[in-house]
Amino acid sequence: MMGLKTLLLASLLGVLEVTLAASSRHAGFLPGSPHNISRNDRGLKQVVLTAAYSYNNQSNDAFLFRPSAIHRAQRQVVKGVRYIVDLEISRTVCRKRDNNKNLSSCDFQPDGRLQQTLQCHFEVWLIPWQNKTKILDLLCKP
Ligand SMILES: *[C@@H]1O[C@H](CO)[C@@H](O)[C@H](O)[C@H]1NC(C)=O
Ligand SMILES: *[C@@H]1O[C@H](CO)[C@@H](O)[C@H](O)[C@H]1NC(C)=O
Ligand SMILES: *[C@@H]1O[C@H](CO)[C@@H](O)[C@H](O)[C@H]1NC(C)=O
Ligand SMILES: *[C@@H]1O[C@H](CO)[C@@H](O)[C@H](O)[C@H]1NC(C)=O
Repeated sequence: MMGLKTLLLASLLGVLEVTLAASSRHAGFLPGSPHNISRNDRGLKQVVLTAAYSYNNQSNDAFLFRPSAIHRAQRQVVKGVRYIVDLEISRTVCRKRDNNKNLSSCDFQPDGRLQQTLQCHFEVWLIPWQNKTKILDLLCKP
């Protein structure tokens, strides 16, 4: 189930994303183009958590999801840093209404009806000197 809000957010931010994509195409293989990064990249852990927090904020699910795998991760320096990540998020046993602050402490659902994993595409733009995190794209589907 893809949330309507997710779609809405993606389309609202679409304009900015297209602009970024167009400028990165013209840049060719200059140092500023996106490049693959390791799953152990220091910033990536926070980035995938941001994806999960953002998904949880928008979903109507009774439970929180958290990252369960990273399939592809790229980083690009563009007036800050842009991350492009394909990841999986899975349903945990933590209920949203319990207001758990530490998502990392939530166990995944055991085998059964409530077990679910979603494939997500996430693009985020970090502007450290403005202390800003802009979500450019978040699309999750089963
Ligand atoms: C959660 O979503 C609401 C509206 O959908 C938005 O106003 C709010 O900024 C979001 N919060 C975070 C932490 O993303
Ligand atoms: C980047 O990573 C993806 C997925 O792991 C892989 O398919 C692709 O070949 C990699 N590209 C480069 C330039 O290493
Ligand atoms: C969150 O939970 C994880 C796993 O239980 C733990 O390693 C980590 O220290 C906790 N972080 C905070 C800020 O409590
Ligand atoms: C950025 O935000 C964090 C947490 O909200 C805050 O502790 C820090 O002082 C801020 N830094 C700047 C440069 O605004």
